[in-house]
Amino acid sequence: MSGIVDSVSARLGATRRRTLDLVSLVDDADLTRQISPLMSPLVWDLAHVGNYEELWLLNQVAGIPTTSSEYDDMYNAFEHPRRERPALALLGPGAARAYIAEVRERALEHLETLDPGRFRPWPSLVPFVYDMVVQHEQQHVETMLATLALMGEADPTRGLRPDTPDSRTAPDPSGLVTAGTVDLPGGNFAMGTDEDPAYDNERPAHTVRVEPFRMDVRPVTSGEYLEFVEAGGYDDESLWHPNGWAFVEGAGLEAPQYWLRDTSGGWLRNRFGHVEPLREDEPVMHVCWYEADAYSRWRGGRLPTEAEWEHAASWTPEGRKVLGTADEASDADLWTEGETQRFGPLPATAGTWTSPAGCVGMLGGVWEWTSTDFRGYPGFVSSPYDEYSKVFFGSNYKVLRGGSWATHPWAARTTFRNWDFPIRRQIFSGFRCAWDARPNAREG
Ligand code: AVJ
Ligand code: FE
Repeated sequence: MSGIVDSVSARLGATRRRTLDLVSLVDDADLTRQISPLMSPLVWDLAHVGNYEELWLLNQVAGIPTTSSEYDDMYNAFEHPRRERPALALLGPGAARAYIAEVRERALEHLETLDPGRFRPWPSLVPFVYDMVVQHEQQHVETMLATLALMGEADPTRGLRPDTPDSRTAPDPSGLVTAGTVDLPGGNFAMGTDEDPAYDNERPAHTVRVEPFRMDVRPVTSGEYLEFVEAGGYDDESLWHPNGWAFVEGAGLEAPQYWLRDTSGGWLRNRFGHVEPLREDEPVMHVCWYEADAYSRWRGGRLPTEAEWEHAASWTPEGRKVLGTADEASDADLWTEGETQRFGPLPATAGTWTSPAGCVGMLGGVWEWTSTDFRGYPGFVSSPYDEYSKVFFGSNYKVLRGGSWATHPWAARTTFRNWDFPIRRQIFSGFRCAWDARPNAREG
């Protein structure tokens, strides 16, 4: 049992170091201001992860009253949407750091005294809530990274990287998958999982039938997406979902977020404050669902359904279910490369996790939009944290799969479900295309 305790506290510790490393780069003024109405002031994220930990690891697990009902209200994401958060009487950076450190100290103390008999699989609380707290904080680190990216020139991480065109190492060209598609056989498969640390929305494992289909071997690259931009994709209403057309027209969009035209009509992109030449071999990033949908139609395809994506990630010729985690690809922190922090995905061809069927880069590159609305699986049972998934089910949100370069391996796996509004682009989102199998495709 102490094995579980040790590994839980190691994961909590490593996660907190990542949080504190990130906020240590930001001065107090930037921690406190709201960088975009789409995001929280960073100091809200900082105290929120600690408050969440207090609610679960001290209040729910141990019955210990919380520090302050005012904090519980202020840092309740459901009560206060992001745009409202700057108006709250938030703890300042110093007080927020002290609060979360004190919560952590008490949570670890309590963990040491936990009755081993309480370590039962979900839906009992322990150890599910510990994994939940770790994943939750890692998810907020990714959210905070998306906030920093929105700071542009003022982004404090800018100084971590040379002010020169993209200096990341080129991948070894041998054995790279450059382009192409994979034919998937379809059939019945077990979608979802019953294993910890899965969130409630990944459960239960259940049988889903998928028709044979074809899918891009890797995510759509910036170079490929550029062809759509140059071909006038943003001016051709016939390619767009009606709501998507209204959105791009209204907002005057003509390319992914962070793309900029250079003076000679070419394209640059702003990556965490550095303006660089567009890297055409990277997965396209910062596109909304409507852009992914329109591009797919232009290619004569469509977005994969969520079930198709997971089938492509987990199907093996033996019919065995593979549960991939980004951990298998690399035990290095996904946002560092050697000594330097890369703050972006690797080239699409150098994918971070390849499925048994040969689909490259399914975990740890970009989040991939699917055509599916976010809903509970048949037999869904809410975890003790009702407001994680259930309140978002419905047709307002689209599911994203995989995980981005900014997603820690502990919060990325082939069953993991992310979701967002179809107009959102500040997240590290891309996509790959799918096609219905042609009737004779299987005969070759
Ligand atoms: C799964 C990324 C959509 O940020 O709203 C963090 C994760 N939930 N705290 C979100 C989450 C509660 C969630 N997403
Ligand atoms: Fe949260």
